[in-house]
Amino acid sequence: MRNGAERMEPQSISSPIICAIDTPSLDAAERLAGGLVDIVGALKLGLEFFTAHGPEGVRRVARFGVPIFLDLKLHDIPNTVAGAVRAVVPLAPAFLTVHASGGRAMLSAASEAARRAADDFGVARPQILGVTVLTSLDDGDLHEIGQDAEPLHQVDRLSTLAADCQVDGLVCSPHEIAHLRGRFGPSLRLVVPGIRPPWTDPDDQKRVLGPREALAAGADFLVIGRPITRATDPTAAARRIAYLLSEAA
Ligand code: C5P
Repeated sequence: MRNGAERMEPQSISSPIICAIDTPSLDAAERLAGGLVDIVGALKLGLEFFTAHGPEGVRRVARFGVPIFLDLKLHDIPNTVAGAVRAVVPLAPAFLTVHASGGRAMLSAASEAARRAADDFGVARPQILGVTVLTSLDDGDLHEIGQDAEPLHQVDRLSTLAADCQVDGLVCSPHEIAHLRGRFGPSLRLVVPGIRPPWTDPDDQKRVLGPREALAAGADFLVIGRPITRATDPTAAARRIAYLLSEAA
């Protein structure tokens, strides 16, 4: 049975906390999912996990009932990306990432494929998130690959393009939140990694922001990995962050 109009709507997410499960271990991912299901809004599974365990691994984690952010950062010709989006839609991820630098046709193909496949398979439509400039790239790296714009200009250019191609949101760094919120208003979801609660280590993140500060600046969702996954008790760590946010609400 199909009921496109209703079912194509994105899943509602109960908490702004998205825990990044950066592990190739299915056991570890399942353990984390079991401990976090009642606390976080979604779990982010990336390329490392997906290339190791594929759709079945995602199903195993999703079985705990927590929404999935599938961070595959797709980037290829439009037809191939549309096919990849269609292939993962039956897994019903709440979020799926594509590289905005893939261009207009690719971004539009991804958005359209998500809508169409969700309707065809009768599942909630994944929110397509555009990745602009990887924070691992600096001015020199961008120059080397022929992108001579300042990183922030490049972010602007790519986010405008992504918005134009009907993506649902953007992945952005903490220092871009206010700028992008000002530029796009409430129309795009802003999903932000590089978040550190005040009591944890920044690890290798160079520019971090606290969870409350990120939400205050205009973030919709906070991607938090190691402060939860590397804690002695990940469930307690996630609860502590959720409590911090509830105090601010
Ligand atoms: O452990 P940590 O909280 O630093 O994890 C952040 C997550 O967000 C990781 O999965 C990382 O790959 C991802 N990410 C990031 N910076 C970006 C984009 C994604 O840290 N600019």
